[in-house]
Amino acid sequence: MTILLNNDGHWHDKYLAALAHYLPDRKAVEFGADYDPSEIKYAIIWKHPDGDLLNYPNLKAVFSLGSGTDYLDAYQAFPDVPVFRMIDPNMAEDMALYTLYWIIHFQRGMEVLRAQQKKAQWKRYVTTLAQEVKVCVLGQGAIGGHIAQVLSRNGYETYGWSRSEKNFEDVQSISGEDSLLQILPEMDIVVSMLPSNRSTRYYLNKDIFAAMKRGSAFINISRGAVVDEDDLLAALDSGQISAAALDVFHQEPLPKNSAFWSHPKVHVTPHMSGATNPFTSIKIIAENLKKFEKGIMPDYQYVREV
Ligand code: GLV
Repeated sequence: MTILLNNDGHWHDKYLAALAHYLPDRKAVEFGADYDPSEIKYAIIWKHPDGDLLNYPNLKAVFSLGSGTDYLDAYQAFPDVPVFRMIDPNMAEDMALYTLYWIIHFQRGMEVLRAQQKKAQWKRYVTTLAQEVKVCVLGQGAIGGHIAQVLSRNGYETYGWSRSEKNFEDVQSISGEDSLLQILPEMDIVVSMLPSNRSTRYYLNKDIFAAMKRGSAFINISRGAVVDEDDLLAALDSGQISAAALDVFHQEPLPKNSAFWSHPKVHVTPHMSGATNPFTSIKIIAENLKKFEKGIMPDYQYVREV
């Protein structure tokens, strides 16, 4: 029984080393290497080519290396086996710290201090306290909920919004479209953890930006497709949004001519707020694979929208 590996072609040496460590008695092969399709029983993939999974007659399950499922949604040809998402507490924590970093940056006016430094200006001011800053995390899945908890536990007045009701300890949960429009005008910082799917495409557009508090900040760590990028640029240019930290974009890598690169109010990072770690992710997949073989369904099975 062989495991097929394809992390979109990246860092396969590290993933193979992790597989050898956590599943020493299994053979693992890189996608495209020399193997017999009938020996493949499991596939560990990220952005694997559409249709290829149908080439393995003995495939039993697929383990995705990411939490987002947009590339799976886009598949035209889907294998008739269970597919599991990656929910790694290490990735969730990493994303929470990335978010906390920018929230502190905006709260404490780090850009103001930077500008002062350039002028050798020693000028102190009273910083806003964490408890005076209201943050809303849009999207309360396993990772979005964790991020909201970390922000709340660091003193920020934190709200977690999702379409259907979710409850995470220490987070003030709100749900439904109307309540979002009601709460946005009070939020100092809005964080997008919205998944990308048919109902969220361009969800964060001029109407949502107009409903936000004037001068608030925006952080996007989920998917570029949930944002209307032209509307976001317009909101930044008009001062409706004062600053943005953007980790994800419609087109990745972000094209060289994108206005975001040089926008003075924008911080760009290359989709790495919480990159999948080869060792922690393969540890989780190894545990799930063993469970699956004992007939126990692992958590976070991907459900395909029809
Ligand atoms: C990364 O973007 C993921 O979805 O895991």
